[in-house]
Amino acid sequence: MNLEKQGVFFRCVEDSSDAIMISDASGRLQYVNPAWQRIYGYSWSEAIGQTPRLLRSRHQGDDFYQTLWAEILDPAKGFWKGELVNRAKDGREVPVLLTITPYRRDGDGTVAGYMGIAIDQTRKKELEAEVIQQDRLASIGFLASGLAHEIGNPLGVIRGRAEYLAMRSEISQTVRDNLGVIVAQIDRISKLIYSLLHLARAERAGTPHPVGLQKVCQDVVNLMTHPFRQEGVALELLVPESARALVEADRLGQVLLNLVVNALHAIQSAKAGGRAGPHSVRIEARERDRGWELSVSDTGTGIDEEAMKNLFKPFFTTKEVGKGTGLGLSISQRIVSSWGGHIQVESRWGQGTRFRVYLPAS
Ligand SMILES: Nc1ncnc2c1ncn2[C@@H]1O[C@H](COP(=O)(O)OP(=O)(O)O)[C@@H](O)[C@H]1O
Ligand SMILES: [Mg+2]
Repeated sequence: MNLEKQGVFFRCVEDSSDAIMISDASGRLQYVNPAWQRIYGYSWSEAIGQTPRLLRSRHQGDDFYQTLWAEILDPAKGFWKGELVNRAKDGREVPVLLTITPYRRDGDGTVAGYMGIAIDQTRKKELEAEVIQQDRLASIGFLASGLAHEIGNPLGVIRGRAEYLAMRSEISQTVRDNLGVIVAQIDRISKLIYSLLHLARAERAGTPHPVGLQKVCQDVVNLMTHPFRQEGVALELLVPESARALVEADRLGQVLLNLVVNALHAIQSAKAGGRAGPHSVRIEARERDRGWELSVSDTGTGIDEEAMKNLFKPFFTTKEVGKGTGLGLSISQRIVSSWGGHIQVESRWGQGTRFRVYLPAS
């Protein structure tokens, strides 16, 4: 059987589920297969004649490409293989495992062009990042539970002594008031420790239970009080005691924490952009179709149309490298839909954003 005559080579390239591109010696694209077009979002006519620069993201700089080409042109090596992040037409960042190999002219053997094969790593990277995140949460959980004991016991003793002294009849009212302050401050520390403990318990997907939403929200508020106060932003909690949904408390805490952190980031950007405020974030719960809707509203930057399209995609972030991973909303969406709920967004550029998380109660 003559594979070449039957066009098998072409069909294999055309039907490959990995992205394949072929360029001439100057790097201009001459062929891209359907998987390439699907992964990067450019059509055939948009791609042909362009160079792969089209796919450059902010993650790799010029030195990266210099090393890459040096390896391809080095006769001893002759190809490049590695991981990088491309940018699709809609701005989505696509981590890929890419191999670039030159192909040669029959006869004189000079390089006629290059072939690139890119394997989409989005799902793999997302899982890796999630494992790292879970890992980190697990170690924080471990530390927090140790800390809760180490700090909790002496705090308990201090609190007990303060209460005991407050009951003695010979002390003045001023001393008694001061002892009251000590007790109140100790209670505040204890609350913080237990909030951290609850949130950091990184259990994997479990079974949903009826969970009181007020308690989960209060834990997040306890942890965020300091950063909000520092930024001069009000954090309001309007969740009734009766709000209950069938969820997992720890994971709902993570979802909510990401929404509240995102809201604070958006307000910081709005302030940096000249909108002095006053600014606030509000967490609210409303009963809705046999469940509860938790919403987080902010007075931050808002979300522009372009970002709106990509919001829930893994790795989509407008934050500087190190501040955001772009995974918060995509993971949150998966968590919430595993309970049969969903997340919606409304936003007005320059005014603010409201995320609404619907949680079923049965
Ligand atoms: N409340 C908000 N206001 C404005 N933009 C937001 C808000 N929440 C999310 N975003 C946008 O969505 C992007 C993705 O959010 P997320 O998935 O949590 O990842 P990350 O916070 O790591 O960037 C953010 O980078 C930001 O551009
Ligand atoms: Mg986030």
